[in-house]
Amino acid sequence: MVLDFEVMKYPGSGKLNKTILLVDDEADIRDILGITLSDFGYQVIAADNGEKAFRIFCELNPPIVLTDIKMPGMDGITLLQKIKSQGSEAEVIMITGHGDMDLAIRSLKYEASGFITKPINVDSLEVALKRACDKILMREKLREYTENLERLIKEKSELQDNLSALGLMLGTISHSIKGLLTGLDGGMYLVDSGFKKENLEKTAEGWTVVKQMVGRIRKLILDILFYSKDREMSLEKVDVCAFAEETAMVIESKILDRQIEFVKDFDPSAGSFEIDPPAVNSAIINILENAVDACLRDISKSSHKIIFSARQDSNQIIFEVSDNGTGMDQETIDKLFTLFFSTKGKQGTGFGLFIADSIIRKHGGSIEVKSKSGHGTQFRIKIPKIFSGSAEKLRQTVPLSKSS
Ligand SMILES: Nc1ncnc2c1ncn2[C@@H]1O[C@H](COP(=O)(O)OP(=O)(O)OP(=O)(O)O)[C@@H](O)[C@H]1O
Ligand SMILES: [Mg+2]
Repeated sequence: MVLDFEVMKYPGSGKLNKTILLVDDEADIRDILGITLSDFGYQVIAADNGEKAFRIFCELNPPIVLTDIKMPGMDGITLLQKIKSQGSEAEVIMITGHGDMDLAIRSLKYEASGFITKPINVDSLEVALKRACDKILMREKLREYTENLERLIKEKSELQDNLSALGLMLGTISHSIKGLLTGLDGGMYLVDSGFKKENLEKTAEGWTVVKQMVGRIRKLILDILFYSKDREMSLEKVDVCAFAEETAMVIESKILDRQIEFVKDFDPSAGSFEIDPPAVNSAIINILENAVDACLRDISKSSHKIIFSARQDSNQIIFEVSDNGTGMDQETIDKLFTLFFSTKGKQGTGFGLFIADSIIRKHGGSIEVKSKSGHGTQFRIKIPKIFSGSAEKLRQTVPLSKSS
């Protein structure tokens, strides 16, 4: 079917886009060739001069152009050059008159796909078109293979990265557990010798160490399980204040036992939010535990305080955990969320904040940190009230300003 350019509906890119731009100044040739090409199954757009053909080409980018070499105005070779100068991969077949061999050969230099001579023999036309189509399909396949190859190479390197991350993780976990087992051995030794010497004090001392080490191993294993499961989130609508109260309750006795003041400030108007409760609970407890550790490790102040607050700010819920413990220097702030980063030696695994961060990000929320060495730290956890996919936000870590 020969289409008038103005009414032409360009077909979407299918397997092979069978559109031909036919360019000839002679109306009879356009008509006859148009019918033949339509019979071959092509959709034909006809143009009667080079300028018009080039305009149509720029707009529709047809894969095949069949053009007369000699035309008034822009001739076929100029049209070919203009098409190729755009970096186009279109196959351009030249129609040459008798005795135009020089021009035909010149057109090959400009990357014409082939030429056919007038009067046009249908078989030669078919052969030239088939060759052009084969080249287009071949290029398409090559592109597909290259893309697949690139994808495979990317997958392979991702697999390698995952394997080396797994190796690193296993190595570090084993190292942490080894350290905790050494602590456990020490505790057991104290218990043993306490028994032997019937020294109750020593036995109790050893037993405390054993319990501490077992607790740390349990925490580490639970964290690892939580992380490695990468489970689907199980969302629930929960009341913010009730959730904050429950979270605080888990750690409250630990805080008070250590003579640290604990201030809870939960805004009753915060309403509810949509979260995976055990996950967010464990994230906030990790942060609260760090606050306790920071207070215990700080010998520069006589009294310590942890403030845990919850409130609503437009469409998100904000939890804050502030402590007046050791605070952090910039280097620590920068590494804070890195897996296995810990400044606590055998007392820490460096899993806590890594997990907390990934949980909050999964909720589409973020954790911001402000801290100042020697003064204290404030963690701000923002969680959208309504879960809308895991739009992960960037985290912010900044030094605590004097005013905050
Ligand atoms: N409130 C805080 N004050 C001071 N330093 C902190 C605070 N919170 C975190 N940190 C620093 O960040 C590091 C990483 O914390 P993270 O919770 O990931 O690991 P950890 O507490 O060392 O070990 P664990 O995996 O047992 O929680 C800590 O070792 C500590 O140096
Ligand atoms: Mg921690």
